[in-house]
Amino acid sequence: MSRRDPHSFSDLEQGRVQSLDLDLNVNFATSRIEGKATLYLAAPAGGPLDLDTRDLEIKGVSASSGEALDWEIAAEDDILGSCLRVQLPEGATSFTIDYATSPEASALQWLEPAQTDGGKHPYLFSQCQAIHARSVIPCQDSPLARFTFTAKMTVPEDLTVVMAAAPGTAAASEKPGTHSFSFEMPQSIPPYLFAFAVGNIVSQDLGPRSRVYTEPETLEKSAWEFADVDKMLLAAEDVFGPYLWDRFDFLVMPGSFPYGGMENPRLTFLTPTLLAGDRSLVNVLAHELAHSWTGNLVTNATMDDFWLNEGFTVWAERRILENLDGQEAKSLAAAIGRNGLMEAMNSFGMDSPFTQLQTDSKGSDPDEFYSLVPYEKGFLFVALLEQAAGREKFDAFIKKYIKHFSFTSITTGQFEEFLNAELPGIAEKVQADKWIHQAGLPDNAPVFESERLKMLEDLAKGWSDGQRPEVAAAAKWSPEDWQIFLQALPRTLPLEDCAWLDDNFNLTAQGNSEILCNWLIIATGSGYEPTFDRTAKFLGDVGRMKYLKPLYTTLYNGDKTKDLAKQIFAANAGGYHPIARGGIERIMAG
Ligand code: BES
Ligand code: ZN
Repeated sequence: MSRRDPHSFSDLEQGRVQSLDLDLNVNFATSRIEGKATLYLAAPAGGPLDLDTRDLEIKGVSASSGEALDWEIAAEDDILGSCLRVQLPEGATSFTIDYATSPEASALQWLEPAQTDGGKHPYLFSQCQAIHARSVIPCQDSPLARFTFTAKMTVPEDLTVVMAAAPGTAAASEKPGTHSFSFEMPQSIPPYLFAFAVGNIVSQDLGPRSRVYTEPETLEKSAWEFADVDKMLLAAEDVFGPYLWDRFDFLVMPGSFPYGGMENPRLTFLTPTLLAGDRSLVNVLAHELAHSWTGNLVTNATMDDFWLNEGFTVWAERRILENLDGQEAKSLAAAIGRNGLMEAMNSFGMDSPFTQLQTDSKGSDPDEFYSLVPYEKGFLFVALLEQAAGREKFDAFIKKYIKHFSFTSITTGQFEEFLNAELPGIAEKVQADKWIHQAGLPDNAPVFESERLKMLEDLAKGWSDGQRPEVAAAAKWSPEDWQIFLQALPRTLPLEDCAWLDDNFNLTAQGNSEILCNWLIIATGSGYEPTFDRTAKFLGDVGRMKYLKPLYTTLYNGDKTKDLAKQIFAANAGGYHPIARGGIERIMAG
């Protein structure tokens, strides 16, 4: 099976790189990583081999004999970066690239000490999904490719390196003032899962297979919030079969991490905005854990098959939730998800091709068309398959699917074939073709009923008619209750209504980032000045795009708050990850 990835210059027919040895020096003074990458081919090759790069400075390429090889780098494409063409001698099995990253590398964020919790040490981290690995290593940057690797990283001696690999070992280095960490990744990964962080990082064990890493200031809180990780791991194995990555560790990141979580194998990255102090946001950890099967074992072949990663993972995340917290909790989560889906679909337009499960994204930037559609429409489709087949049969199907495709990358078509072979008749029964290839939401989408959800939404819908929650009752609402209620309120409220909500429920002082963000969208979007400072502070502390994007959109579109949006962005842009900065620039340009 060969398929060209629309987001990669490399052509795997020319030769597959099956492993890498990295020897990298991290230079905080110049914001550059300098070093060597040795690429090993799965079979001897000769002639041109194309690799993906972005903003890399190539210093030279050499054969395993040490002989210098010809190479050329093409002009930069805005979305894809630059193709690096290396001329391999006949029968080559490996070659080495001497290179440096740019201070603007799109995967990397270099943090000043002031942007960390401790405030004393700099920090560096990577975020490679979807197509940013090429800004860190010259590689075949397509999820169709897979490699194992070893990595030696040399960093200032007061800093620690952690990597999505087997735990590293530190050793002295020849360069004064530095030390080196050596890692090995025995399981083969697609390039978007390559990840590391450098900083003042410590850890605490949470179970036989899990440990949390973070800065010392955040360790206790993190260990408490995610104490149930081992229970989750067992629940996930129940759904999918054995966990094949040995350990499941995770890293709680500085505030500027642009996502809620990233499933980097053996070292999930998590936003600190999950540290609500009440364990109410741990579903993100369950989600990243579930990717250990759907995504990291069975990988989407291209970004057009992204729903295979995210749809199945949201489905699994909610199965884990059902297992740990019961059916009502799952229905509530599914119902919140459906609200988000409808909002995302409506903003694209119900007939937009971006609302299909399998997309056709040639020529577009994956960061730009990122949305909830593959997550929540994907979830509903998988849940529908589960209903149609019956749980027992579907559970057996999922385990077989994982086993069959483990450590490979598959297209939507391969999934459809497997479905037809293993659960004959089900695809027709649920009109799978319509779900996968057509826009919009088919009317046979499963509905998740929740009494509580209905009560809260009805209450919010009556707001304009003067309906108000009873203060004593609402003071006892769970974080999920508040999230639903706020999301169901009108997007702007009269100023006295904002004041009533804030006076009674102290929303501006909320520590739960989901509640806070939903509240600030309404209050600041309504021009309610008492929340302006809190909004400015939140947008300075947090780099998670889930919060930045709707908040900046609301502020930028409000007559009273447009200038505020510009001011806040001007003050904080330098502190955002390049991916987040790009996302907000697009909002403020349009
Ligand atoms: N793999 C994604 C994050 C991602 C997707 C990064 C595409 C870059 C490109 C991760 O698993 C994810 O989905 N995170 C969600 C959390 C989840 C509970 C929906 C997030 O960051 O909000
Ligand atoms: Zn995900």
